[in-house]
Amino acid sequence: MDVIEHLIQEHRKAEQLMDRLQDTDPGTRRDQLVAELTDALATHMAIEEQYLYPIVSEVLGQKTETEAETEHGLARDGLAQLDELHAAPGFGAALDMVKAGIAHHVHEEEHEVFPQLLEKAAERLETLDPNELEAQVNKGRRPDVDLTKDELYRQAQAAEIPGRSAMTKDELAQAVAYTP
Ligand SMILES: [Fe+2]
Ligand SMILES: [Fe+2]
Repeated sequence: MDVIEHLIQEHRKAEQLMDRLQDTDPGTRRDQLVAELTDALATHMAIEEQYLYPIVSEVLGQKTETEAETEHGLARDGLAQLDELHAAPGFGAALDMVKAGIAHHVHEEEHEVFPQLLEKAAERLETLDPNELEAQVNKGRRPDVDLTKDELYRQAQAAEIPGRSAMTKDELAQAVAYTP
């Protein structure tokens, strides 16, 4: 599959996850969906930033690329807030903001950035294999040592990792990082 088609499919997947999140109450199900969305978008954004946006900068200009990077930053902030507010009454408002921000960004990618890339850099895009890129960016991801033990435990809980309550902080970090 070509890389653009793959990224567009991932946009649909993220939208579906956000729709499913909208109907959740505080609890494990919601936490799992937030973790799944965060993980899917971390990989998606890393692929775009490392492999696609350098071509965007060259072919469509620095301004377009900077705008896309800024929007990724906003999405990351929004996802962090969803995680923080997972059990709070403000969760729905935070989710609406994340959805709106991502919808804006996705619209620009699919209606402006991607079509222009296909028009001006088709040959370079053909050299990018999405599965290979995914393996590359995931290989580079390491346990996040800045998280507190409680935060790591919460992630381990969402991922239903067995034996989590007896784990040290380092063990939790390892377990969380190596769980898909
Ligand atoms: Fe993007
Ligand atoms: Fe994207």
